[in-house]
Amino acid sequence: MADIPQLLRLINGYASEGIMLPRTEFEISENLRDFSVIHCGELVVGCAALHIYTPTMGEVRSLAVDAAFHGSGAGRMLMDALEAEAQSFGLQSLFAFTYIPAFFAKFGYTEIEREAVPLKAWKDCLRCAKFQCCDEIAVIKHLNVEHSRVSDTHMEGVATFPQVLPEDPVLLPSIRKSH
Ligand SMILES: CC(C)(COP(=O)(O)OP(=O)(O)OC[C@H]1O[C@@H](n2cnc3c(N)ncnc32)[C@H](O)[C@@H]1OP(=O)(O)O)[C@@H](O)C(=O)NCCC(=O)NCCS
Repeated sequence: MADIPQLLRLINGYASEGIMLPRTEFEISENLRDFSVIHCGELVVGCAALHIYTPTMGEVRSLAVDAAFHGSGAGRMLMDALEAEAQSFGLQSLFAFTYIPAFFAKFGYTEIEREAVPLKAWKDCLRCAKFQCCDEIAVIKHLNVEHSRVSDTHMEGVATFPQVLPEDPVLLPSIRKSH
């Protein structure tokens, strides 16, 4: 819960630029267990949420990295963590709505018709300013179904971040489930 103010700042900063959906304190609280966050000291520098819709399908939502950390590998760390988490739940595919399909392509996502994702995923669209003129692109990745069940070790093997270590070890970034 202590992360919520910083998550709101991060996500709604980009939402004000029109590149992400805004989130309210209520929504983040309700879905907090979906979130993985990257901390750098006390600072939340990145976040992403795995939202499950069906027994086989989940969505990557609210992916955001603080602008000061762009290009640091934080985005990759979050994508890898969410994919590992999705596999640990036995999901078969992950989708996202995005303006940057090229970023998702780096992780094996391909473009699909928006109509191909579960209807429930459209619930966010109802209150979006672009409801009548949506220009987001739907992307999907089919996961390796040969998943292994992991519990609290699903973050192992994610990309190394950052490439340059800070001098103060307290500021060493680490990723964990939000709480
Ligand atoms: C998209 C975002 C999360 C990427 O985070 P990041 O920490 O800069 O990403 P990384 O440094 O881990 O980059 C991983 C790879 O993606 C590439 N990449 C990063 N941003 C990209 C973009 N906008 N388009 C295409 N590729 C991109 C990097 O070059 C890198 O590729 P490489 O491994 O071949 O060198 C970050 O730019 C962001 O928060 N953007 C604003 C919010 C947003 O658009 N969120 C997505 C909502 S769907």
